[in-house]
Amino acid sequence: MQMWSKLTIGLLGLAAAGNVMAAGNAENGKKLAQQYVCFSCHGQDFKGMGTFPPLVGKDAAYIQAQLKAFKSGERKTPMAGVMKPNADKLSDQDMADLATYFGGMK
Ligand code: HEC
Repeated sequence: MQMWSKLTIGLLGLAAAGNVMAAGNAENGKKLAQQYVCFSCHGQDFKGMGTFPPLVGKDAAYIQAQLKAFKSGERKTPMAGVMKPNADKLSDQDMADLATYFGGMK
């Protein structure tokens, strides 16, 4: 009995941590994606285009972390310089909203 309640608390803790990571508003994320024309590089339905990676089917937490890393300059992949100016315009809340929007796509 006691073990189960500990397990439950543990799982609730995990769920809460997940929410903190990307506490975004998908509806607003959709608007931001249009406003910042993310599709112009990532493809009309965000499925990628040539060398531009897809945004669909990726984890919200992953997307949020990448946006932060582009903005801070932490991500130094060969094409990061193309993406950085796009991330520079985004606030932390914008990133969370976009991540929630893309993270919910299949
Ligand atoms: C000018 C073209 C361009 C625009 C516009 C653009 N991106 Fe990107 N994006 C890129 C490129 C190029 C990469 C790959 C960078 C690399 O290889 O490190 C990338 C990578 C990413 C990644 C990381 C994907 C992964 O698999 O690691 C995310 C997340 C992302 N972009 C989100 C966005 C969002 C959100 C927007 C709109 C606010 C946006 N991008 C607009 C060019 C663009």
